[in-house]
Amino acid sequence: EQDAMSAAFDAAVAADARIEPRDWMPDAYRATLIRQMAQHAHSEIIGMQPEANWISRAPSLRRKAILMAKVQDEAGHGLYLYSAAETLGVSRDELLDKLHTGRQRYSSIFNYPTLTWADVGAVGWLVDGAAITNQVPLCRCSYGPYARAMVRICKEESFHQRQGYELLLALSRGTPAQHAMAQDAVDRWWWPSLMMFGPPDDESSHSAQSMTWKIKRHSNDELRQRFVDICVPQAEVLGLTLPDPELRWNASREAYDYGPIDWTEFQEVLRGNGPCNDQRMEQRRAAHEEGTWVRDAGVAYAAKHGEAAA
Ligand code: 3HC
Repeated sequence: EQDAMSAAFDAAVAADARIEPRDWMPDAYRATLIRQMAQHAHSEIIGMQPEANWISRAPSLRRKAILMAKVQDEAGHGLYLYSAAETLGVSRDELLDKLHTGRQRYSSIFNYPTLTWADVGAVGWLVDGAAITNQVPLCRCSYGPYARAMVRICKEESFHQRQGYELLLALSRGTPAQHAMAQDAVDRWWWPSLMMFGPPDDESSHSAQSMTWKIKRHSNDELRQRFVDICVPQAEVLGLTLPDPELRWNASREAYDYGPIDWTEFQEVLRGNGPCNDQRMEQRRAAHEEGTWVRDAGVAYAAKHGEAAA
């Protein structure tokens, strides 16, 4: 019986079919999807913090409206991904508790500070740009709910990336001080954005299995390279330089060679020693605490009006 179900699972994955919540799946497939989807959702929620710092400081009403829309989108992406993860038999409360107690991760990139307004542009262009490069292949992930969530999220990410790029273009073509502010932000966000794609392939503990299961469609280094190749011409249009003296076109590879990434920095950030790890977690836990009354009111309302508990 089990062998037949396991064979059916393997055949479905081999045929690029979608695995749906009620289908049989190996426990390890379920576990790695819960891990990745939960951490993806956590990243969206924590990712609201760096940009939210600038909503009340935006230089114009137009910029404020754009940034508010983007941060609200990130919250929605998080809730969308928690809902998709719940189809695997875990509860949102359980996942949030794992985040709050450091047993589940969120993306390293959100442990860096947004020091000037130009950082909002660099985050949109580079961080959301990297997220798009990583998320487009996830639209073809073998697990149905995750793949479908990615389709909707990728459409909104394009707006996020575009508004960041346009913000940087305005600054870069502005006064010398504005140009310098844009260059400083790109200098600080470039290397951490490359780290978003994960460790090098030969140090990636999950890649081989995730690629066999068609959760991961391309390796960390492949997507990192794709992102570098996309950004170099965009930086030229921006009139900003990427902070890597070894960056150069390699005609034989038809790709850009780039300098070494500081993986000790990456590992330190993952260990909790990044510039903003403590602050991000304190703010997250406080927000969860302060939101208790909203959750209680929602449950009370559902109980009173006989709907299934929220
Ligand atoms: N930050 C934190 N942890 C990371 C990481 C990063 N940038 N990259 C890798 N890791 C962790 C992995 O989680 C794993 O640790 P774990 O076993 O405790 O989970 C370990 O490092 C080994 O890495 P692997 O490459 O073996 O792990 P994966 O196969 O999971 O690959 C990944 C890492 C490419 C990030 C993959 O998990 C993935 O594609 N996740 C979905 C995308 C995602 O999470 N994006 C977050 C970006 S931010 C965002 O989307 C918000 C946007 O709106 C800006």
